[in-house]
Amino acid sequence: MKRMAFAATALVAATALALTGCSSDRGGDTGGGTDEEVTGFDAGSTIGVALPDKTSENWVLAGQLFTDGLEEAGYKADVQYAPASNTVAEQQNQITSMVTNGAKVIIIGAKDGKQLATQVQAAKDAGAYVIAYDRLIENTDALDYYVAFDNFKVGNLQGQALLDGLAERAGHEAPYNVELFSGSPDDANSAVFFDGAMEVLQPAIDDGTLNVVSGQTEIAQTATEGWLAENAQNRMDTLLTGSYGGDVVLDGVLSPNDTLARAILTSAQQAGKGVPVVTGQDSEVESVKSIMEGIQYSTINKDTTLLVEQAIKMVGQLQKGEEAEVNDTESYDNGSKVVPSYLLDPVIVTKENAAEAYANVPSLLEIVESYK
Ligand code: BGC
Repeated sequence: MKRMAFAATALVAATALALTGCSSDRGGDTGGGTDEEVTGFDAGSTIGVALPDKTSENWVLAGQLFTDGLEEAGYKADVQYAPASNTVAEQQNQITSMVTNGAKVIIIGAKDGKQLATQVQAAKDAGAYVIAYDRLIENTDALDYYVAFDNFKVGNLQGQALLDGLAERAGHEAPYNVELFSGSPDDANSAVFFDGAMEVLQPAIDDGTLNVVSGQTEIAQTATEGWLAENAQNRMDTLLTGSYGGDVVLDGVLSPNDTLARAILTSAQQAGKGVPVVTGQDSEVESVKSIMEGIQYSTINKDTTLLVEQAIKMVGQLQKGEEAEVNDTESYDNGSKVVPSYLLDPVIVTKENAAEAYANVPSLLEIVESYK
């Protein structure tokens, strides 16, 4: 999977593009698929939503929002999570059942985006549309759409936040000692976040501003299997023991999300290394509190409510027999095709801009205001 060069202006330019390429035999009443028109499906149809295991709060929230939002829009919602064990096989089975049960659109938050091509093809063959949600599904041209926050930009913002946080808080001039973490290797987003961050950080490593003391700068070395906090904490413990003996200072850590950020901070504190500048993502409640307390440096606001709303809006367009609206047709190549995407804009959040960043997220705004 390759994330092609991102051009913000192309987003706007592509918005109005009417995309072709959807199968003619989908949507129902075309009587054998000779008609190239997409004809939609019954308003009360079943919509499948297959979500991964609950590795961060956003996945928990998404399930509830999909159930409520789809039912409110008049569909039958079939929302399922893959359990934490045997997740890939369970998710494959869940998608297969959704196809068998006649779901007209299947929205998938992939556990492992490399292992769903067969199920996505089966969905297409059965006349259903497939939308990849938040995580891209790779190596299949049967995938219709991708809806996500622009995850490459998330990585860019995280890299920049690490540099800004170091300048603000390290208490000394460069060079800064840092370590790099990435997400689970089975999640297509992990490389996208990491590549986005490295686009910003690599020049600072090359010019000596940043010193990755462990020398571990390859994504395989930085991975956090399963997005599990304990795996990040163990790796940080090992790095501190191996590379930060004596009075070697740890100034900052690139963390791809909030769950891992808190684990990394716990490790540093337990090792007596103080509070390094640590980035995050997801605006989890505990991390927003930590940011307001001046501990975690940053997070990202990817408002799940907006993303679910956008996905349901796409379902509505397909139901009416229209193409789903997209705003990007060049950034997310899944190895088989560039997937027509609707990308939302992620927002960096630090203590300084938290009130503004969460102006439309009442539950988080309340937390921010409680620190005033
Ligand atoms: C999501 C992140 C999340 C991570 C772990 C990624 O695919 O984009 O928001 O932190 O999965 O759940």
